[in-house]
Amino acid sequence: MNRVLSPRLRERSLLGTIAGIGAFCAIVGACSGEETASSEGPVTESKDPATETASEGLRLHDLRFHDPVKQAAAAMIDEGRQTFRFDTFGDEAFWGGMLKLHQAIAGAANGGVGPGVDPTTALSVGLKVDVAALPFELVRKLKRGEVDLTVPATTLALLKLNAVVGVTGFFGKSGKLESMGIQCALCHSTVDDSFAPGIGRRLDGWANRDLNIGAIVALAPDLSVFANLLGVSQETVRTVLNSWGPGKFDAELSLDGKAFRPDGKPAATLIPPAFGLAGVNLHTWTGWGGVSHWNALVANLEMHGKGTFFDPRLDDADRFPIAAKNGFGHIMTPPGADRISPKLPALHVYQLSLLAPKPPRGSFDRDAAKRGGELFVGKAKCASCHVPPTFTEPGWNLHTPAEVNVDDFQAQRSPDGRYRTSPLRGLWTHTKGGFYHDGRFATLLDVVNHYNGFMQLALSEDEKNDVVEYLKSL
Ligand code: HEC
Ligand code: HEC
Repeated sequence: MNRVLSPRLRERSLLGTIAGIGAFCAIVGACSGEETASSEGPVTESKDPATETASEGLRLHDLRFHDPVKQAAAAMIDEGRQTFRFDTFGDEAFWGGMLKLHQAIAGAANGGVGPGVDPTTALSVGLKVDVAALPFELVRKLKRGEVDLTVPATTLALLKLNAVVGVTGFFGKSGKLESMGIQCALCHSTVDDSFAPGIGRRLDGWANRDLNIGAIVALAPDLSVFANLLGVSQETVRTVLNSWGPGKFDAELSLDGKAFRPDGKPAATLIPPAFGLAGVNLHTWTGWGGVSHWNALVANLEMHGKGTFFDPRLDDADRFPIAAKNGFGHIMTPPGADRISPKLPALHVYQLSLLAPKPPRGSFDRDAAKRGGELFVGKAKCASCHVPPTFTEPGWNLHTPAEVNVDDFQAQRSPDGRYRTSPLRGLWTHTKGGFYHDGRFATLLDVVNHYNGFMQLALSEDEKNDVVEYLKSL
């Protein structure tokens, strides 16, 4: 059966097959759906043999390439992207309604409070502007320097255009900013800076390591909801928020109330990328669960959208005193009012579709990376945990703190008390802020030195450098 056909012969035999199927279709009368069959009439009645072949070809094309599974997946990617970028899940009731953060953004001159947040300030705390949302005329004015980036009114204009990545402004009839909500994209998207620093095309899934979310939330006029939850003053809440710094957020704070580590440093962790996660079992630095588990947790408990969340592990009052006391593992919203649960399937598909971006040409040394790749799976023993191509373990991808020779503070703030083997693709996109959950290693060389020490790998300086180049190539 394994005959090798010349291209020409192969073509002829393919045509033969097409003609064969065409005849078959003509006999059964419905190969490409009834609509085509009735609009074109039965193929056998065609007078022109050329037309006949063409329409048979079309039907065959339909038969072979109409793929309902792919079409449905593509629709889910579109829906998931929309959710990831623009859905507040109703969290404006929290960020605007309770914290009144929108008032601090607008400023007293625009009906809010305080000086307001002008675009220059907004960009300096890591907020990003989506250039694709700006009308052509505005882009031209921006280019000419004719837009005043030092007044909060310009920030409001950008919010009206839905151009601030991850933030939605809600405006009243009079044009006044009345509330605001946040999206996944706030922390997990950035822009390519193609127009100016902080202004460009969206890059979904990239960790926004410029974003000083703590400093932004600390601007809110009313932090009583956090103060009551944590049993501290609003001033203390502000101090904690301002301690995080850029690229960090503390997702566990409202579960366990631990704001600082035993060594006195802030307990916040780095924002990880949300790309390159297909095939990865457990997510977050400490492996809380699958992507959908974490999405539901974040949308309900961190963003404060309206939804439903179940995780009885949060009933553990020793580990999660605040969550246990407040029933955070048992959030119920009636199906009709639940704005999160219906979004989870497409949001999941979208995130799994985000591949880690390839490193730019010339950003690493190819020969060194090749040697580094051999070390990675060989002498350096990295691939015993970071298994290519996902670079985490296929299976239960968690380790005790001792296995990676770090303290257990953050691990103990999660249900399993462990650290998750980080997927390593796209490391080059998040070098800012350092590596490991808290950024304790400033450079990749520091990471390699860490392993070289406690695993007694005896890597030479050249070998360490090769492993670093390999990490940059992923
Ligand atoms: C305020 C910033 C912020 C927002 C908003 C946010 N995240 Fe995150 N995200 C984080 C941080 C920080 C972590 C790490 C948490 C940890 O390990 O404890 C994280 C972790 C994740 C992870 C795990 C990534 C991995 O490496 O496995 C996924 C997936 C994720 N977020 C998706 C989302 C989605 C989807 C949304 C919107 C529903 C969202 N996040 C909203 C900050 C944010
Ligand atoms: C015992 C399993 C294990 C081995 C062996 C291992 N790693 Fe890791 N790796 C981990 C875990 C777990 C983390 C997450 C640690 C944390 O967040 O605190 C991690 C994190 C990292 C990170 C940081 C990723 C980020 O996003 O910040 C890099 C880089 C890395 N490993 C590279 C390596 C290299 C290179 C080797 C070999 C020299 C190696 N790993 C060997 C388990 C392992």
